Amino acid sequence: MAGSRLWLSLLLAAAFAGPATALWPWPQYIQTSDWHYTISPHSFQFKYHVRSAAQSGCSVLDEAFQRYRNLLFGSESWQRVALTGEQQTLEKQSLVILVVTPGCEQLPSLESVENYTLTINNEQCFLLSETVWGALRGLETFSQLVWRSPEGTFFINKTEIEDFPRFPHRGLLLDTSRHYLPLPSILDTLDAMAYNKFNVFHWHLVDDSSFPYESFAFPELTRKGSYNPATHIYTAQDVKEVIEYARLRGIRVLAEFDTPGHTLSWGQALGVSGLLTPCYSGSQPSGTFGPVNPILNSTYEFMNTFFLEVSSVFPDFYLHLGGDEVDFACWKSNPDVQAFMKKKGFGNDFKQLESFYIQTLLDIVSAYGKGYVVWQEVFDNKVKVRPDTIIQVWREEVPVSYLKELALITEAGFRALLSAPWYLNRISYGPDWEDFYRVDPLSFEGSPEQKALVIGGEACMWGEYVDSTNLVPRLWPRAGAVAERLWSNKVVTDPDFAFKRLAHFRCELLRRGVQAQPLSVGYCEQEFEQI
Ligand SMILES: *[C@@H]1O[C@H](CO)[C@@H](O)[C@H](O)[C@H]1NC(C)=O
Ligand SMILES: *[C@@H]1O[C@H](CO)[C@@H](O)[C@H](O)[C@H]1NC(C)=O
Ligand SMILES: *[C@@H]1O[C@H](CO)[C@@H](O)[C@H](O)[C@H]1NC(C)=O
Repeated sequence: MAGSRLWLSLLLAAAFAGPATALWPWPQYIQTSDWHYTISPHSFQFKYHVRSAAQSGCSVLDEAFQRYRNLLFGSESWQRVALTGEQQTLEKQSLVILVVTPGCEQLPSLESVENYTLTINNEQCFLLSETVWGALRGLETFSQLVWRSPEGTFFINKTEIEDFPRFPHRGLLLDTSRHYLPLPSILDTLDAMAYNKFNVFHWHLVDDSSFPYESFAFPELTRKGSYNPATHIYTAQDVKEVIEYARLRGIRVLAEFDTPGHTLSWGQALGVSGLLTPCYSGSQPSGTFGPVNPILNSTYEFMNTFFLEVSSVFPDFYLHLGGDEVDFACWKSNPDVQAFMKKKGFGNDFKQLESFYIQTLLDIVSAYGKGYVVWQEVFDNKVKVRPDTIIQVWREEVPVSYLKELALITEAGFRALLSAPWYLNRISYGPDWEDFYRVDPLSFEGSPEQKALVIGGEACMWGEYVDSTNLVPRLWPRAGAVAERLWSNKVVTDPDFAFKRLAHFRCELLRRGVQAQPLSVGYCEQEFEQI
């Protein structure tokens, strides 16, 4: 069955060129026709049945209905349009949603089912999903199917869709350390992520440059480590708001606290109290500091307290513990570190010292009932990690190509995430979205079991040259290329088919208030509604 329906999906994909609707990302199976029905914004309703749900309703769906009603019919000028002529109208003027398993108050997780089916014909307009998260994906698809004639009438074509994601982890990384991103920038990004069916917000909260996360166990970290403790921090309330805003859109928040490298801002805050390794120049401390000092018990006491806090603030099962780009030069220069290496029998192998640190940290975080994601160096340096660790591949060619790295990680039995070819912060002249689009995360040599261990990927927007002034146009619609690669069937690869839909989707993003940049020459009707 799957084979013939796949063929159908492709055939339709190839034949589809109409301007009316342009789904992004493309669904797994779709059957559409020219047959279309009018929708009346005045009487159209969203209804839901959540099997065995409590009387109190479902916040996730209630809020989604409001958002989508606004997106579809919100603009004043649209509401004045009256139905005219002989059009066939949708009989019931409602989208009925059936969610099988309740869970409206829960959080989305890596295991969440996002499958849905959407049926639009004369008799019914029906969305079926196992979960509210699938219902959200289906609502987004529904909203992309509605179109408007030049006279202003709303239509939806007769359609059958059966859809599910190719990968369960479809992430976007924002870096709020190199530049602080105001809360509204983050919330707006979560909205645009939902339009693209992304489901993980990887929040690279802190780094060398600044420490905007407000810690209640160590308030000094924020007071001294942020760019400005009055304006450039995320309070506990902000963090809560981000997590709930994301949850209502079916998006997980994966918080990253990267150690032992990338921690200069931590050290600044804690001053001389010894979290960071003092670097030496000859026999004297040089006055500069390196990675976290792995030889002191106080380091682990600090991490114990800090990660206890972080584990309770961020409810997702996974935390991201970083572990990338540890600079060994400072450790090498420090005589106390050298003595510790000797005592431990590490010889001159600083990877063993790194492993010692990371293993101790992983044990701490495990004890708090969390799973973890780490950057690939932790695997490359042979740190002993739990079998359920997720390894994120970010290096393009070093020590091996990212495809080879995926093969090695999955051969060792670990789950993997791909980011290496999806660094959106890197820009070049021309349609670079095509390069992101062309990547296939499973195009490495390996067994089906190995391929099943690749759970998805992430588009990354590192912040060295990005703040709230240029974040949005740099993200969209480029990140959409990654979103479709991670959601749609692996056979959906035709760049011309993608270009047409992505260009249309970019115009739709403008209409929704997202200042997405153009893909090529041309124009959007929607440009002018913005002014
Ligand atoms: C929807 O119907 C219109 C009008 O009949 C047609 O032009 C368009 O191509 C159809 N869209 C799809 C996706 O089938
Ligand atoms: C979701 O769809 C996939 C692909 O068809 C299927 O393997 C899986 O069983 C579905 N899950 C549910 C809960 O329907
Ligand atoms: C650090 O902790 C270890 C293990 O608990 C202990 O053996 C060692 O003496 C401690 N070192 C210092 C300097 O307190």
